[in-house]
Amino acid sequence: MNTMTIAIDGPAAAGKSTVAKRVAEKLSFIYVDTGAMYRALTWKAIKEGVSLEDEKGLKSLLNHTELNLIKNELGQRVILDQQDVSDQIRTAEVTNQVSIVAKHKEVREEMVRRQQELVKDKGVVMDGRDIGTHVLPDAEVKIFMIASVDERAERRHKENIEKGFPSDLNQLKEEIRKRDEIDSNREVSPLVKAEDAIEVDTTSMGIEEVVHTILGIVKEKARKGDQG
Ligand code: CDP
Ligand code: CDP
Repeated sequence: MNTMTIAIDGPAAAGKSTVAKRVAEKLSFIYVDTGAMYRALTWKAIKEGVSLEDEKGLKSLLNHTELNLIKNELGQRVILDQQDVSDQIRTAEVTNQVSIVAKHKEVREEMVRRQQELVKDKGVVMDGRDIGTHVLPDAEVKIFMIASVDERAERRHKENIEKGFPSDLNQLKEEIRKRDEIDSNREVSPLVKAEDAIEVDTTSMGIEEVVHTILGIVKEKARKGDQG
């Protein structure tokens, strides 16, 4: 049980990271937010003027980039070349361009390599788009988390208002739709439900209810595992 791997995939704003973080806490597992890694590279590429269409340029930039996901008194943080970029990578500028960076094969191969390295002999909850299909194909538990576009946009809208950020519900809906479309239709590791993933539709579920559901799936899996 303490080295179990849990993969959570799904479209934008389905609640993956919120739920994954809580599940990891409950199980004392580490939590790996793979989206944050693509976001961090996107942020650095914009800052350094590397074209987001330039696969080789992005790969070379990534090779010269140290990325660490840590947990400190501020919570889960993303450290890029020793700088905490956790807030910078959540801006609309990064959000609306990250899917372009994430299309590139060479970028993905290196990201997947780094993600797999983080897992060795540890209990882990990892969320993203290709975790159950490519990063952790042998994960003991695979969840495909979905919710309607309207609900997902509402959730992000509410989150923005709470944080005091400007927010337009229709624009959010459009942006989420567009990102899902790019993520689902790219050639390399598109967003698809793994054959052995369990779909959880959270459209009318609260956070605690989703956490409870996933913990139930994990416990059932552990019980079956114990029985051999
Ligand atoms: O949290 P949100 O749903 O907004 O997105 P995220 O998980 O932070 O991921 C940002 C973007 O990174 C996604 O829209 C994908 O383009 C890309 N991504 C990916 O391609 N593969 C992953 N394993 C994780 C994220
Ligand atoms: O990681 P992902 O983009 O899939 O979603 P998230 O950032 O974890 O969740 C997006 C927003 O929806 C957050 O503000 C969560 O608090 C909220 N949420 C919710 O209202 N109900 C859920 N069942 C899950 C998340």
